[in-house]
Amino acid sequence: MCGIIGYTGKEQALPLILGGLERLEYRGYDSAGVALIEDRRLVVEKRVGKIRELVKSLWGKPYKGKTGIGHTRWATHGEPSTENAHPHTDERCEFAIVHNGIVENYLELRKELEGKGVKFRSNTDTEVIAHLIANAYRGDLLDAVLEVVNRLRGAFAFAVITVHEPSRIVGVKQGSPLVVGLGEGENFLASDIPAILPYTRKIVTLSDGEVADITPEGVNIYDFNGNPVTKEIMVVPWDIISAEKSGFKHFMLKEIYEQPKAVGDTIRGLISSGEEPPFSLKDFRRILMIACGTSYHAGLVGKFWIEKLSGVPTEVVYASEFRYADFPVDERDLIIGISQSGETIDTKFAINFAKRKGAKTLSVVNVVGSSIDRESDYTLHTHAGPEIGVAATKTFTAQLSALYFLASSGHPEKDRLLSELMKVPAKIEETLDRSEVVEKIADKYMKKKDFLYLGRYLSFPIALEGALKLKEISYIHAEGYPAGEMKHGPIALIDENMPVVVVAPQDRVHEKTLANIEEVRTRKGIIIGVGFEGDEKVEKLSSEFIAVPPIEEDFTPFLTVVPLQLLAYHIASKLGLDVDQPRNLAKTVTVE
Ligand code: AGP
Repeated sequence: MCGIIGYTGKEQALPLILGGLERLEYRGYDSAGVALIEDRRLVVEKRVGKIRELVKSLWGKPYKGKTGIGHTRWATHGEPSTENAHPHTDERCEFAIVHNGIVENYLELRKELEGKGVKFRSNTDTEVIAHLIANAYRGDLLDAVLEVVNRLRGAFAFAVITVHEPSRIVGVKQGSPLVVGLGEGENFLASDIPAILPYTRKIVTLSDGEVADITPEGVNIYDFNGNPVTKEIMVVPWDIISAEKSGFKHFMLKEIYEQPKAVGDTIRGLISSGEEPPFSLKDFRRILMIACGTSYHAGLVGKFWIEKLSGVPTEVVYASEFRYADFPVDERDLIIGISQSGETIDTKFAINFAKRKGAKTLSVVNVVGSSIDRESDYTLHTHAGPEIGVAATKTFTAQLSALYFLASSGHPEKDRLLSELMKVPAKIEETLDRSEVVEKIADKYMKKKDFLYLGRYLSFPIALEGALKLKEISYIHAEGYPAGEMKHGPIALIDENMPVVVVAPQDRVHEKTLANIEEVRTRKGIIIGVGFEGDEKVEKLSSEFIAVPPIEEDFTPFLTVVPLQLLAYHIASKLGLDVDQPRNLAKTVTVE
């Protein structure tokens, strides 16, 4: 996820663009840049790092141009670097573009352009669009964009300017967000409302398949065939802070709701980027997955998939345990490091230790160019966008997507498996519709001091993850446990004050889990059952029942984790705690 912004009007563009980028920084922050039309010349300034690096580099520069575009990047293709930072231009530096999203067919387009002698400066998919528009330009920027946009596949929002039409911006929306801001003698374009809210509250939200033709005098909207489209103008009531959360009370809640997109973008991104590792899982005698916290729980789910689909023995180890034990690791092993930040020091050291032992290393990371990304032999990038809430949510389900993608690689039915996986985002969307039920349960049990979370097979890691979510943001003690293990001790804890969350989808262990629920009930425990819609057995046995849509067994973790994320969120929010920055925690643990 990246942030883009554009301005054309009566004021100097640069300060407005930089201010907007600072308000979009939560969308991505590994590099940033601006392009301005200065006396019919295109000026491009871009820097690696946060917006403030770009701002510092521009101090004292005499830029007075009144039309420009800006970008803050969350790398999806191509490392964070000055060359890969946006804006990108054509070879003659007459067109500049900023882009948010993924052009799935960029490789074939790039080959076509290189065949025509075009020289590329970056490894990004975005640069392809700049060259295509320059090639298609015959005096009208809108016509050139309409010709090019019909050749692109994927999810993208971009804005383009040219020296040939110095006060015009053309923006395109397909799959990624883009809004237009209407001013007096000036107009704006941005990924999100926060970027331009200080300048105007009059907003037009573009829909997929629409193009905005923007000048200081006015804005015209067309479909991809050039037909005019009439749009409603919205006057935004939000204040700035709530707008950055797009109206959500906390980033964590926003990110829980971003999961359908995070999962869909990750699957699309992995399929289109050709990141599939150049080896078969079957080449290895054993797979070791190494991670911490929520990422460790993702590994536990991935283990089931990898062993089922590849037959390769797979272990999941806490990074902090791996490093100081005597794991017999060598070149016959594949080490998979899972880390959304790509900077967790325990995981990073574990990867390096394994490499020194000769093992092949593959990482699953959300931050392109992070240490673990750079130090692994191969990487599968999740496309969840920046996760601001300390509690991992959308990066967890994005990690599951990447692990399933890996597990199915080399499988004879890979295409069918991945097309089934592509149905998951819609099911997560349906699951999110049940948030009200969860909120009522949070109301009832928010004062409890201890929770148990139970699950079997694929639901056991979800029980662990649900317990972690509750602990880390509500500070209530919670423990995840294999449901079958209750009778070996923890059942002594059960009484009428103990809420027991049981993850019970209709999978191969459903009957066994029902028996475990009965064991808890006979000891007067409070059962919060998470099961398939229509599962009367679980519903009848539960004090509280949260339904998720039925889905095939392998994909149940994607859905059953959502009510547990929401339960933790609503309890912590109702307790008035700092949900996005819980006490004692950091988003990235860079100390041992
Ligand atoms: C999860 O909600 C926590 N924030 C924490 O357990 C986290 O998953 C862990 O620190 C690992 O972080 P990483 O994925 O960035 O390596």
